[in-house]
Amino acid sequence: MKETISISLKGIENFLSLEEIAAHSKASVRLLEQLVAGTGPGSDFLGWLRLPETITGQLGRIEKVAKHLRSVSDTTVVVGIGGSYLGARAVTEALSHSFPALQKEKKHKIIYAGHNICEEYMGELLEVLEKCNYSVVVISKSGTTTEPAIAFRLLKNHMESRCGKSVAADRIVAITDASKGALRSLADLNGYETFEIPDDVGGRFSVLTPVGLLPIAVAGFDIKEFTEGAKSAASITRDNKDPQTNPALIYAVTRNLLLQAGKNIEVLVNFNPKLHYMAEWWKQLYGESEGKEGKGIFPASVDFTTDLHSLGQYIQEGQRILFETVLSVKSTPEKIKIPFEKDDQDQLNYLAGKQLGEINKSAETGTILAHNEGGVPVISINIPALNAFYLGQLMYFFEVACGISGYLLDVNPFDQPGVEAYKKNMFALLNKPGYEEAGKKLKEKLK
Ligand code: PA5
Repeated sequence: MKETISISLKGIENFLSLEEIAAHSKASVRLLEQLVAGTGPGSDFLGWLRLPETITGQLGRIEKVAKHLRSVSDTTVVVGIGGSYLGARAVTEALSHSFPALQKEKKHKIIYAGHNICEEYMGELLEVLEKCNYSVVVISKSGTTTEPAIAFRLLKNHMESRCGKSVAADRIVAITDASKGALRSLADLNGYETFEIPDDVGGRFSVLTPVGLLPIAVAGFDIKEFTEGAKSAASITRDNKDPQTNPALIYAVTRNLLLQAGKNIEVLVNFNPKLHYMAEWWKQLYGESEGKEGKGIFPASVDFTTDLHSLGQYIQEGQRILFETVLSVKSTPEKIKIPFEKDDQDQLNYLAGKQLGEINKSAETGTILAHNEGGVPVISINIPALNAFYLGQLMYFFEVACGISGYLLDVNPFDQPGVEAYKKNMFALLNKPGYEEAGKKLKEKLK
């Protein structure tokens, strides 16, 4: 039997009593029940809860399309923003080689676009694509989001002018709503291969749909294992009403008790840079789900030990308003040992014979103890290994915990009304039809 991710509260004991956490976890089982029964706020968006089981029927087709893209191109540009991009990026970066460009064997490359509107980024991307044989996977649930729509127009134009409309159509896959939105019409009109995003799955909860799974499969990673991991997490979270053993319940309750104790910021910590984008995905999941109605924990992240030499100072001694959640990975596949040197000029012989992973673990333990001493509570999420199975477990665990945590805060974790504000202003400033009056008002303000 495979291990499971687990939660450790050792670094919380100086701040909250385990009895208090246990009592609140017990009282919060009803919120988990509400989530699973679909009787809480946002119940129209709970399709993600059953994805570990319901998606299995689609895995074959996803793998087939991924194989096709890999066979006709050497690079795939994944176009999307927010929930339509971060899940795929979190998994592919966590599983990829750190130096893909320098690897000798020819691996299929994944590049991301549509997550910004920076002219330089797009210019440089188009420059690079001149030398590639590429495909495009364009992802947008609404089919109308400006950033990916602009990137896709540019890429489609570039590809069609290089290899013609019909070759381009064979290399473009659209993942969008079944019937609504500009991307759906565009895909149908041009005969692109398409996948549907279910109505009842919001962007940031969509990693187990083709939104996450197709790019992961194109990158060459095992989506069956990823889904199996999520399935196993469902049994210890979604289907587990025991408040003593459900890590999602314990995590949601602990972070909310810490918030009540004045810890307004949660910093997700990793000691492996491959997890950088996992933190980006997590920040979006929690930030968009909880930050509303003047409530919510501000989600931040750091890569250690790198950031111990920058933000580490603040975490140790700055305002006591934060707590950390450490993604603690048990084993590393590399076996690099520190060599012995006779003259010991760099004075590192005390480390000779030790594995680098062991030294990194000591940095992790030492950091947790130091931060604890400095008044920072630390939750640890133990991950047995960095592979597709445990990433699936981890992400599903975070999703269930997010649903419970949103209910604990008494907000609807499945909407995002706040993201519209900047869009309205941008449309008004760009004279989008329908925004003329708003545009006039804004331009007055800017005088
Ligand atoms: O989680 C969400 O719902 C958002 O972050 C969306 O994923 C993001 O805004 C992109 O939207 P769309 O997929 O409609 O282009």
